[in-house]
Amino acid sequence: MDLFSPLTLGDYSLSNRIVMAPMTRSRSNTEAVQSELAVEYYESRADGGLLITEGTGPSAMGMGYARTPGIYNDEQIAAWRKVTDAVHAKGGKIFLQIMHVGRIAHSANRTIAAAPIAPSSIRAAGQMWTDSQGMQPNDLPRALETAEIPGVIAEFASATTNALAAGFDGVELHAASGYLPNQFLSAGANQRTDAYGGSLENRIRFVVETLQAMVAAAGSAGKVGIKVSPGMKFNDIADADPMPTFIALANAISPIGLAYLHLMRTGIGSEAALRAAYNGTLLVGGGYGKAEANQVLAAGAAEGVVFGTSYLANSDLVKRFATDAPLNTPEASTFYTPGPKGYTDYPTLG
Ligand SMILES: Cc1cc2nc3c(=O)[nH]c(=O)nc-3n(C[C@H](O)[C@H](O)[C@H](O)COP(=O)(O)O)c2cc1C
Repeated sequence: MDLFSPLTLGDYSLSNRIVMAPMTRSRSNTEAVQSELAVEYYESRADGGLLITEGTGPSAMGMGYARTPGIYNDEQIAAWRKVTDAVHAKGGKIFLQIMHVGRIAHSANRTIAAAPIAPSSIRAAGQMWTDSQGMQPNDLPRALETAEIPGVIAEFASATTNALAAGFDGVELHAASGYLPNQFLSAGANQRTDAYGGSLENRIRFVVETLQAMVAAAGSAGKVGIKVSPGMKFNDIADADPMPTFIALANAISPIGLAYLHLMRTGIGSEAALRAAYNGTLLVGGGYGKAEANQVLAAGAAEGVVFGTSYLANSDLVKRFATDAPLNTPEASTFYTPGPKGYTDYPTLG
């Protein structure tokens, strides 16, 4: 078993186990419509077993960053359709990552005036880039009323419907990196006293119900995955002991039969714990190279490996792995800048 072994993942047969990580690239327009350049960017990586797109907002309320894409109106769906058509024409598979930022937002990056929503009205420490005002602190969020939560979950379901209408093979719930689902999971960000906060069972409820709604919208659990990052402190996520929450979540979602659980490791040993707790396909990511990826697959510790920065800088990563060719070095200064530089202009082999 190695990176070039085929894989059955949910409803699909993948030609290899190389997965492109979801990566925000900030090339959309200010109305959250994906750019034409993204067609070439994703198409040129279509020989990966599975591509996962950059985080994409399910609603205007779910947006927080400059120039990130959405999937909540017809123009956005049409722009994404060009990406999925190009990837499919190359024989690839592509899932859309649905990302609701919750409290990680600044008003200058949003198309609506309303304050961002979160489990609790606690501002996340840290700053984010805005095109009009430079670096700014995260906005103070408004705490969701209990009665509003089904409506927020419904946005993830409608985003799933829209993603399939745009031609995506499936969707990934972004429950990592401190965004809305991760805010519900985290005791630091979630100080609710209703059924969605407090106990561990309550803190996982939002994510479980959201996945159930996404599966119902997709019509198949095999078209839905989830990403988690236990122990990640990014975006002011604070949890004294995160693993019990994620083990409880893995136990709770195992019976759903999702396409996969995608784990971004953070150095706290979550890989073995979630392997044991989760009964299904496991994808692991976070600093893997070819050699370690093949070891993990040979050991049966995961079914697929997710590559971020290495795939960002090498559109022909699959070919380079196959031939043991050297890799381009990622250039962080152009990760989030508009235009082709650092996006579609990394050199390819030959
Ligand atoms: C430029 C950039 C943007 C990212 N944006 C996202 C994102 O939108 N959603 C997400 O889940 N992770 C995002 N990540 C994290 C990656 O998916 C991945 O977990 C991380 O880069 C670790 O993998 P690597 O060491 O192979 O790069 C981003 C990473 C980078 C470098």
